[in-house]
Amino acid sequence: MTELMKLKIEELEKKNDQAMAGGGADKIAKHKQGGRLTARERVDVLFDPGSFVETDRFVTHRCTNFGMEKNKVLGDGIVTGYGRINGKLVYVSSQDFTVTGGSMSRTQANKICKVMDLALKNGAPFISINDSGGARIQEGIESLGGYADIFTRNTMSSGVIPQITAIMGPCAGGAVYSPSITDFVFMVENTSYMFVTGPDVIKTVTHEDVTKEELGGATTHAQKSGVAHFTAKDDKHCLLLIRELMNFLPMNNLDDTATISTKDRPDRIVENLNNLIPDSPKKPYDMLQVITEIVDEGYFLEIHKFFAQNIIVGFARMNGRPVGVVANQPQVLAGCLNIDASRKAARFIRFCDAFNIPIVSLVDVPGFLPGKEQEWNGIITHGAKLLFAYAEATVPKVTLITRKAYGGAYIVMGSKLLRSDVNLAFPSAEIAVMGAEGAVNIIHREAIAKAKDPAAEKARLTAEYEQKFSNPYVSAELGYTDEVIEPALTRKRIIDALEMLRNKRDINPPKKHGNIPL
Ligand code: HXC
Repeated sequence: MTELMKLKIEELEKKNDQAMAGGGADKIAKHKQGGRLTARERVDVLFDPGSFVETDRFVTHRCTNFGMEKNKVLGDGIVTGYGRINGKLVYVSSQDFTVTGGSMSRTQANKICKVMDLALKNGAPFISINDSGGARIQEGIESLGGYADIFTRNTMSSGVIPQITAIMGPCAGGAVYSPSITDFVFMVENTSYMFVTGPDVIKTVTHEDVTKEELGGATTHAQKSGVAHFTAKDDKHCLLLIRELMNFLPMNNLDDTATISTKDRPDRIVENLNNLIPDSPKKPYDMLQVITEIVDEGYFLEIHKFFAQNIIVGFARMNGRPVGVVANQPQVLAGCLNIDASRKAARFIRFCDAFNIPIVSLVDVPGFLPGKEQEWNGIITHGAKLLFAYAEATVPKVTLITRKAYGGAYIVMGSKLLRSDVNLAFPSAEIAVMGAEGAVNIIHREAIAKAKDPAAEKARLTAEYEQKFSNPYVSAELGYTDEVIEPALTRKRIIDALEMLRNKRDINPPKKHGNIPL
């Protein structure tokens, strides 16, 4: 090596060291006090060892307001680049709170946009790790413009590449909107929060007292708003969860998720299912157990676990191939559909459809949740989202009715009549306009009132109705149900259906886009 080259390499190493130092040792130490990882450590945990390649390490901001020209840090508060997660290419941006609070400068936005453009062009997922005080106040509107550029790219990438956000610190004001456009939002308990307006503004405007955690912490968004799909106990847990989710996702909308080999036999008999459904339709049981009994090796990655628990959504594999599972949960609100459940499941179904992931629906639904609160908040519109999502989806759709499938909710939950491909039912299925008791109360009101023994007459008529309608056979006679199966055969039959549908081709009429009832 020549002397000159040696000097040049030394200069490069010095610059690299400067960039690596972020906001400096003191700020890093302060940042890590609560057990948080630095922006670079987060990237290291996220990617396969040694696979990360950084872009724009030496970018600096160009702001000269408020003496900012004297406050330049190489990289400008964000680490960007690409790497591999379980061998798959993924792009990333990771905000560094130790540099001006990770705040968004024009150049920081440019760095993010550069990797987002690469992700879209190369058909690979994009992960954003957020930890930022928001728009860089010294830059004003230039920073806001940067957010707009990111929002636009989020929107253009939606449905083309999977996009994931991890909130690992503050995320406030308009900055919350990039995460919420992305497909999955992860939050870390106790150290992350998201809100459009913070506690101080709320106090001034509405006089309400609320803490940051209560207003927009991980638990709040996981349980109440549904903004967060996953919560994690710390940074490392969050990043490992993202890696787990990535296993189920394809690279892009033209890619198929890889089928992996499994030791779980496709024809495995699930004897337990013959004993799971209680005889009384009023008794709940755990639909999660049905899911874990039938999927490969009992492994199910639940999404939105704490939100709208009356419906379950998540990913699993069947005979090695990823599937999206949508299932009513009779243990919560008797499995009724309400606004939150409809929104939760509709968004999940649309994700699966956009990314070629077959949908397996498990149905035990007594109907839509009655009540003023539901009606006034628009269950009509929100329920229609779920119907729309099922009806427009062109991926393979296999539905199994385990017990109740009543009325509109029956139609909505992936019924044959909404372009579902295969509908199966247990012998315990009750596919009807409504439950027998409700039906008898309406159509035989007078007869019951006039009867010598109204209770006995009602019981007789209910039994008669159950005999006639509360079973899967009327539907099977009409061809709405393809097969009534013994519960123990569930895994085999669903896999048979998915294999039969492996090369399904179905297209919707050409259009600019549909108008889902938002
Ligand atoms: C510039 C910022 C900053 C910002 C923090 N810093 N936020 N610098 N622009 N937005 C700097 C601080 O000056 C400080 O610098 C360092 O980051 C760490 O901040 P601290 O306040 O010491 O940290 P902490 O006590 O942990 O509080 C974090 C915080 C607070 C809650 C995020 O910093 C804060 O309230 N920041 C302002 C939030 C905000 O109002 N942002 C604009 C929102 S509007 P030094 O040099 O002292 O270490 C918005 C619009 C987006 O974002 C619109 C999109 C369309």
